[in-house]
Amino acid sequence: MNLKTNRIYIADVFDFLESLPNNAIDLAIIDPPYNLKIATWDSFKNQSEFLDFTYKWISLMLPKLKQNASFYIFNTPYNAAIILNYLLNFNVNFQNFICWYKKDGLSYSKKRFNSNQESILFYTMDSKNYTFNAESVRIPYQSTQRIAHAQEKGILKNGKRWFPNKNGKLCPDVWEITSQRHKSKINGKVVKPPHPSIKPREMIERMIKASSNEGDLVLDLFSGSGMTSLVARDLGRDFIGCEINADYLDSSLSVVKGSET
Ligand SMILES: C[S@@+](CC[C@H](N)C(=O)[O-])C[C@H]1O[C@@H](n2cnc3c(N)ncnc32)[C@H](O)[C@@H]1O
Repeated sequence: MNLKTNRIYIADVFDFLESLPNNAIDLAIIDPPYNLKIATWDSFKNQSEFLDFTYKWISLMLPKLKQNASFYIFNTPYNAAIILNYLLNFNVNFQNFICWYKKDGLSYSKKRFNSNQESILFYTMDSKNYTFNAESVRIPYQSTQRIAHAQEKGILKNGKRWFPNKNGKLCPDVWEITSQRHKSKINGKVVKPPHPSIKPREMIERMIKASSNEGDLVLDLFSGSGMTSLVARDLGRDFIGCEINADYLDSSLSVVKGSET
């Protein structure tokens, strides 16, 4: 199959990956099934079947990435720890275990602490030669009063006067971002989204801005609504991806069925 960029292929992830050329991708943002049984596609017979599936797409995906590429993988903290362990088998470089803190998350356990996070593993193929635009993903300082004071007079640190950066602080590895379903409330009510687990635009923007440059090719396996591809397009990056269920995809994306090109 001769794949074209800026398209989402309606295909099974394994068929799609078989067709993708090696060393083609600059950045992969992968939001796969978590085995939380939120839909048929997220329901595996058992953890072992889920891990076989996960290990298979990971091992097929890695050769598709360029030597200076980066990749992000979403999952539950528990599964992310297992995936991290699996990635020890490959020549890849761990960068961050990002915690997505979902302040608005709903979980009512009284038998353990409530689960309010998802995890994102951030890796690069090379240990030194990769894109990381730290300046483009600064976030606002929290203590506005102290910062306002420091902006005028600076703060004495190790004998030097420090002035806050007008674009905010460097982005840490805990991301407090409202989930997309809570952002899309109508009259204060959560409405059923077109896809059960759309990732927040703001979060995808952060990954793409930090780990790619204009014109780079972003891989969007398990596209879902196509949020990663939509953001890539808006930020002047190319994208290519696959999704098994065409009904989920945003209608503005170019979709290609199965083996058409
Ligand atoms: C967690 S969702 C991705 C959501 C997406 N990040 C978004 O923001 O909309 C995972 C997606 O993978 C798709 N999927 C599951 N198994 C697949 C497979 N074997 N091949 C291709 N897509 C698959 C599901 O239909 C689902 O839409």
